[in-house]
Amino acid sequence: MKIAVIGAGYVGLVSGTCLSELGHTVNCVDQVKEKINKLKKGIIPIYEPGLEDLIKKNVKKGRLIFSTNTKEAVKGASVVFICVNTPPKPGGEADLTYVEAVAGEIAKIMSGYLVIVDKSTVPVGTGEWIRRTIKNYHRKNIDFDVVSNPEFLREGSAINDFLKPDRVVIGVESKRAEAVMLEVYRKLKARVIVTDVKSAEIIKHACNSFLATKISYINAIANICELTGADVSEVARGMGLDERIGKKFLKAGLGFGGSCFPKDLSAFITISDNLGYDFSLLKEVQKINRLQRELFIKKIKEIVWNIKGKSIGVLGLAFKPDTDDMRNAPSIDIIGQLQKEGALVKAYDPVAMEKAKEIFKGIKYCKNPYETARGCDALIILTEWEEFKSLDLKRIKKLLKIPVIIDGRNMYEPEKVRKMGFTYKSIGRK
Ligand code: NAD
Ligand code: UGA
Repeated sequence: MKIAVIGAGYVGLVSGTCLSELGHTVNCVDQVKEKINKLKKGIIPIYEPGLEDLIKKNVKKGRLIFSTNTKEAVKGASVVFICVNTPPKPGGEADLTYVEAVAGEIAKIMSGYLVIVDKSTVPVGTGEWIRRTIKNYHRKNIDFDVVSNPEFLREGSAINDFLKPDRVVIGVESKRAEAVMLEVYRKLKARVIVTDVKSAEIIKHACNSFLATKISYINAIANICELTGADVSEVARGMGLDERIGKKFLKAGLGFGGSCFPKDLSAFITISDNLGYDFSLLKEVQKINRLQRELFIKKIKEIVWNIKGKSIGVLGLAFKPDTDDMRNAPSIDIIGQLQKEGALVKAYDPVAMEKAKEIFKGIKYCKNPYETARGCDALIILTEWEEFKSLDLKRIKKLLKIPVIIDGRNMYEPEKVRKMGFTYKSIGRK
């Protein structure tokens, strides 16, 4: 099939590449020329494991091209995926102006039956708005369908998530569109759930809100564990083995960040408020998430006392491992507060330092964890990168001014680290 993907960000680029891997011919469009120029030269604008190889392979096979020309891409396509950003407005509501702009563009270009698929995360009812927008701009009587096909990939494991999903959700209003979408995903050996458009839209917000709730829940449990001397990792293990609960997303830490959970939670709360339903459960989820970062700062102070003038080494800046994405990373709040209180911050992240430089000023960026630790009053861990698991802690201890590790991601065995002579604090554990 010939497919156009509009928006070559995390979702568009991964989806477009994976759709070409499934054998489709894909034209990936973005309005940012610099991004497309880089892609044309084989430079991948985001860090996502496995993406570069897959792009190169499919470009070579002639199934994947990049352009800034929506017109050309849509003209030859039978399916168009909208993958543009839907950022939060100041009040938390999703900003749908990019989605509307693309719908308007498509309407002006389309010349025969077209399936327009929304993959961006949007409020319930957006499919209907896309339909209306296309009708307004496109006055000829050409038949088209609007489909909701939410994306569930995670950054850092995006390729695998796309190619081996737990399920594919397709929200359609016609059998014709359903048949087209089933053909798009035919080669994926995945369970496909076909619903109406509105249900598909709600599934996406419901999933992200549920996962965020699970994280806040375990973080609340972690706080109870700290107050009682229990161990949250043991509690999570005991809970997770109950298949009704499941092991995943029960890692206590600094709370959820990233471009999605915080944004989608706010959007879903606003949607509910506008519908006249007070989704107070989700408001509490946000509150617990904020508190988790404040409690971490409190923990640092309990050990280093005054922050002013102290050197703090930070390991990990990205909102989670295996990505360079800094959007809503807990590091932003935590480092921000440390700097506000007068700390001297040194930091290291395996891939996110370039992006971090656009956010933090006055930080000393280091080449590795050891350079970061040198001369510091404490080392704090904000992202659980695999390489931090195998650090030479003896060396770290020698380099630190005072052997203190405050671990926001529960990376080490408390007993072992303390035996080595560290003062060690983590989340929800003795
Ligand atoms: P992004 O900001 O990385 O990418 C969006 C891209 O769309 C940008 O490159 C932008 O230049 C481009 N764009 C905007 N308007 C355009 C236009 N008119 N024509 C061409 N290109 C245009 O965003 P993202 O992280 O890929 O997210 C996209 C959507 O997918 C959001 O709704 C998000 O919530 C959802 N989503 C994201 C993830 C994720 O892991 N990042 C996962 C699932 C769903
Ligand atoms: C999340 C969802 O997992 C995807 O299914 C969804 O498609 C995506 O949002 C989206 O809608 O954009 P992502 O934000 O990439 O994916 O990353 P996650 O792995 O879900 O992690 C989100 C945040 O939760 C991170 O800050 C992570 O550190 C935190 N987290 C995750 C925990 O604190 N504990 C956990 O047990 C799991």
